[in-house]
Amino acid sequence: MKEQAQDKQIGAPMNRVDGRLKVTGAAKYSAEYEIPGITYAVLVGSTITKGRLTSIDTRAAERAPGVLAVITHFNSPKVPGFDTAGKDPSQPATVGGPLKIFKDDLIRFNDQPIALVVADSWERARFAARLVKAQYAKEKHQTNLEANAAQAFLPTSAKKNPKSPMADYQRGQVDAYKTGAIKLESEYVIPTEVHHPMELQSITAHWEAPDRLTLYDKTQGTLATRRDFAREWNLPEENVKVIATFVGGAFGNALHSWPHESAAIIAAKVVNRPVKLMLTREQMFTMVGYRPYTWQKLGMSATPDGKITAITHESIGQTSTYEEFTESTLAQTRMMYQSPNVTTRYRLAALDIGSPIWMRGPGEATGAFALESAMDEMAHLLNLDPLEFRLRNYTDQDPEKNKPWSTKFLKECYQLGAERVGWNKRQLKPGSLRDGDWLIGYGMGVGTFGAHRGAATVGAQLLPNGTVLLQCATTDIGPGTGTVMTQIAAETLGLSPQKITFDLGKSSYPKAGTQGGSSTVNSVGPAVQEACLALKDKLRGIAASSNAAFASAKKEDVTLTDGYLTVGGNAATRVAYADLLRQPEAATAVTVEAKPGPEGQKYSMYSFSVHFAEVRVHQLTGEVRVSKLVSCADAGTIVNEKTAGNQMKGGAVGGIGMALMEHATIDDRFGRYVTKDFADYHVPVHADSPDVQVAFVNQPDPHVNALGTKGIGEIAIIGVAPAIANAIFNATGKRIRELPITPDKLI
Ligand code: MOS
Repeated sequence: MKEQAQDKQIGAPMNRVDGRLKVTGAAKYSAEYEIPGITYAVLVGSTITKGRLTSIDTRAAERAPGVLAVITHFNSPKVPGFDTAGKDPSQPATVGGPLKIFKDDLIRFNDQPIALVVADSWERARFAARLVKAQYAKEKHQTNLEANAAQAFLPTSAKKNPKSPMADYQRGQVDAYKTGAIKLESEYVIPTEVHHPMELQSITAHWEAPDRLTLYDKTQGTLATRRDFAREWNLPEENVKVIATFVGGAFGNALHSWPHESAAIIAAKVVNRPVKLMLTREQMFTMVGYRPYTWQKLGMSATPDGKITAITHESIGQTSTYEEFTESTLAQTRMMYQSPNVTTRYRLAALDIGSPIWMRGPGEATGAFALESAMDEMAHLLNLDPLEFRLRNYTDQDPEKNKPWSTKFLKECYQLGAERVGWNKRQLKPGSLRDGDWLIGYGMGVGTFGAHRGAATVGAQLLPNGTVLLQCATTDIGPGTGTVMTQIAAETLGLSPQKITFDLGKSSYPKAGTQGGSSTVNSVGPAVQEACLALKDKLRGIAASSNAAFASAKKEDVTLTDGYLTVGGNAATRVAYADLLRQPEAATAVTVEAKPGPEGQKYSMYSFSVHFAEVRVHQLTGEVRVSKLVSCADAGTIVNEKTAGNQMKGGAVGGIGMALMEHATIDDRFGRYVTKDFADYHVPVHADSPDVQVAFVNQPDPHVNALGTKGIGEIAIIGVAPAIANAIFNATGKRIRELPITPDKLI
């Protein structure tokens, strides 16, 4: 007789385990730690864009009330790692490395930090920061990508390795589209977009001893941050503790170590007290990354019956002068459609701006705007339905790697989405549907992102109160990592989720990769599963000494219930935890590493999405309303419908921003951002977004991991902006190839 039904936890729409902590304010973010003796720091930024600092007058600031220190490159202590830092082999996308703050007098971008004021209150630090006066020797700067496109270069990673995904790619004939019968050639531009998570970048740095550093830091990777700052200070990694228990959104902006973090650590050394530093919203534009302004050209040819014969996709993205940032803008073009001839060329233009960093759906979201817009343009040329055109060029295996897909259910997504949005209402001829002054149109856009998986380690322990404690250094920047890991553990153990605690966000916990690239559930999920199985096996071994039923039981059949361990829920086999826990504590704890196997060699692994938009465009004002947005995904097993659905909705809203609003604008005369806050930099608010409908195919991928997951975060946004742009074309007949599509472009 079963003592307790084995609840199906995986797939259940469970509420967030940390929901109450977040809504009650009990969750502590990195600027909310009150450490005795805490001090407050405010950065002063350069007012020129390029040149040299000739002098800084800090005397008035130093005399201001409560000021403890004013740090500049003239008086900053030497950061040992700044001299030895070279190319970081673990970060191939950032050749050159981050800005070394206060190391020299060079100004590389506008608002580059030139001084840090530390005081006994934030208000006093802020006041004193305004008293710092700098003199400069100004040089001519370049902040405009198009003006510098002629100097664009092949990334170093591609020069060093012709097999790099950043290298030029060729399948079939070079630029074969040029000789195609039916062809198009279009240019696309996406502006700089800034992540702007709700929580501003912040850090509390505390030297607990001259060689022991604790950082409460906004980061997506506690171990990457630990590694970076251990290197900067030549410390053993175990001497650096990074705590990021709660992260208030990031979207990629905390995938990199930034100058303000180095600055706070330097300051904590100087004043020998903990230092808290939070950027302002304005500073979030200038020094902590962004989605780079990117120019693209896409050429495509097709046969009259709708078979693509060639695609050439070229791109120039911007980077800084001191660090080479690359992203996979052209990846989707190489593998999404059946085309015998494909050429891609990726280049960078180095400008006098801060370094970019991956922003949700990095690269692919930019590339998909060009590719999926061009697909719509070609379908229009062919007088074909865009969905039908995509079906005629569907790939049943990866045409880039010539490998089978691990799984691909994109056709199923097409069908689900087309039904839900009412695709049958779409007219081939643009401008055919209207409702008074509102023109109505439908568009679609496809997204894909690699189903990445890395190694991860999880610790699991049965506690005397009958609960299981799991620990892992992964972060949870908002997707609900703690929640889904609790579900995976609950199902694997056969225990109710209330009996499980999943601790995360500390570098001292067992190792996990950075939360990025939609890889967390793929990587940490199986580690939780394996740790729970190992824990059951360990408990089984202990139980076997008092109950013979356990000796021959399989670990999968061992069930944890409230107070007892059983074999398959059979009451006759019950062994009380109290009996098990008489063993030394370590006997009920395991630490297990889970790693990807060789499947990645055999299969091409991707998540897929398609987004369908219905828009209404006002004929006179050019106002665009996204009246329907349907996002369908093949992301493998869905561990939690609710949190996964949230991910998809958040990505879709990000896509609305990308399509219609987001645009960080530099005044090239001064090299300075004009957009400084949410009054100038628009993101969608509730009224700008429809109730996004989400559908998952929810088919497990047996090759990525035992859970069958493939990842959701990136495909949630990739393809949304072109779906909206294509719907606008269908509504109005106007093809806008430069984002965002603001009303002025439509009237
Ligand atoms: Mo994401 S751009 O990998 O946070």
